[in-house]
Amino acid sequence: MIGRLNHVAIAVPNLDAAIATYRNALGATVSKPQAEPDHGVTVVFVELPNTKIELLEPLGEGSPIQAFLDKNPSGGMHHVCYEVDDIIGARDRLTAEGARVLGSGEPKIGAHGKPVLFLHPKDLCGTLVELEQA
Ligand code: CO
Repeated sequence: MIGRLNHVAIAVPNLDAAIATYRNALGATVSKPQAEPDHGVTVVFVELPNTKIELLEPLGEGSPIQAFLDKNPSGGMHHVCYEVDDIIGARDRLTAEGARVLGSGEPKIGAHGKPVLFLHPKDLCGTLVELEQA
């Protein structure tokens, strides 16, 4: 059911510093910062030949990545995003298998303008998983 790895997301306490690290030390191409108020984050994408890295900084009060950064003050790997053809079909299959969908259970529009869902890490090998309809 799952397709390509769309991205790996890293939560960071300071987006400008993280952009500088990826651009200058790693020599990567980094997109412009994009505010995602619906998701409580500001995001940039690092373009790699075979996938992307999403760098996330908290935006506003009650950002869903703030608790993670409180536990991991220098930042850390936050989630992986897999592509699916049919996000509703994927959700229904996963919930039938006992996985919990975070939030309302309905897809939201993600940073690429496509529907996304997040699944509880306890149900998926300790890793927060984002599904994106490709
Ligand atoms: Co993501």
